[in-house]
Amino acid sequence: MIDGFGRRIEYLRISVTDRCDLRCRYCMAEKMTFLPRNEVLSLEEIAIIADRLIARGVHKIRLSGGEPLVRRDFMELARRIGRHLEGGGLNELTLTTNGTRLAEYAEALFDAGMRRINVSLDSLEPDRFAHITRGGDLGKVLGGIAAANAAGLRIKINMVALKGLNDHEFLPMLRWCADQGHDLTLIETMPLGDTGEDRTDRYMPLAEALSQIEAEHPLAPVLYRSGGPARYFAAEGMEHIRLGLITPLSDNFCAGCNRMRLTCEGKIFMCLGHEDHIDLKTAYRKGGVGAVDAALDRALIAKPLAHAFAIGPDGTKGVTRRHMSVTGG
Ligand code: GTP
Ligand code: 5AD
Ligand code: SF4
Repeated sequence: MIDGFGRRIEYLRISVTDRCDLRCRYCMAEKMTFLPRNEVLSLEEIAIIADRLIARGVHKIRLSGGEPLVRRDFMELARRIGRHLEGGGLNELTLTTNGTRLAEYAEALFDAGMRRINVSLDSLEPDRFAHITRGGDLGKVLGGIAAANAAGLRIKINMVALKGLNDHEFLPMLRWCADQGHDLTLIETMPLGDTGEDRTDRYMPLAEALSQIEAEHPLAPVLYRSGGPARYFAAEGMEHIRLGLITPLSDNFCAGCNRMRLTCEGKIFMCLGHEDHIDLKTAYRKGGVGAVDAALDRALIAKPLAHAFAIGPDGTKGVTRRHMSVTGG
């Protein structure tokens, strides 16, 4: 699949649910209204759409949410999609999770064919973690990460940089990741959905985080690419792990975009930072796989060149009304 700007689209992100057991301040509002279950794609529908996208050239699938592991039939879906890993055109099946239920799922994820996963972890201080997530239990997440590691999954920690909340923890987090053998990716906060918090004050360009890190551990760029938007570095003395940077606001990476997103309600978003989408669920329910193909062709032509994010005085509301959890990050 090639879009209107000549970009090859081979990475599909599927949000399997908009629900989550945490309420991270930069992601959700304290009180959320979730989609009624009948508006959410069934396991069968997601699997059929994924089959079709793999047939059309998707090589990498990431399951996300919300929190994907709160969906009851999650493992069945992962196993079904995972079958494509055995010579079926899919090179990687992976997951982005908040880690609260990882201990329970780690071995099953490995058995379904996953080899690395990304876990969101914005603080290593229990009280701060509880504050950022509005009530999350750090111990549970660390237990989940340890279980995933023991099950053979390579782990990348995702840390959203939040001024005044965790901007003193970049070095401690990097050192902890180095001790544990996990990669670390720092992410700039993006204005998606109304969280009831003012993002303008929280936004931190990652250059500021880098200067803190570089004062102690000089960084060298590395050639590794994960197939996602991060650029990677090696920190002196910690060359066994990678430090990734995701800088949608301070250093745009849209020119190399290879991604599309399927939401849990069956919409295809060709860009995280735009409201335009194609309703694949209705297309499929009315016209089957043929209609899915036609809708995908339209989506490819419509894919915008770049996102329209900006953290400005109206940062509270965000440029898109949709929450990250609906689109799947
Ligand atoms: P890897 O496969 O390890 O590269 O993962 P990934 O970075 O593609 O996925 P992950 O779910 O860990 O996402 C990390 C962050 O990158 C999240 O905040 C995503 O919203 C953000 N992200 C991923 N793709 C895009 C994109 O196309 N545009 C923007 N603006 N952000 C993105
Ligand atoms: N900006 C940047 N990253 C976000 N995430 C969730 N909401 C936002 C946001 N507004 C991150 C989560 C998770 C990944 C899928 O996206 O922390 O690691
Ligand atoms: Fe849940 Fe992830 Fe959003 Fe936090 S960032 S509320 S863990 S979906």
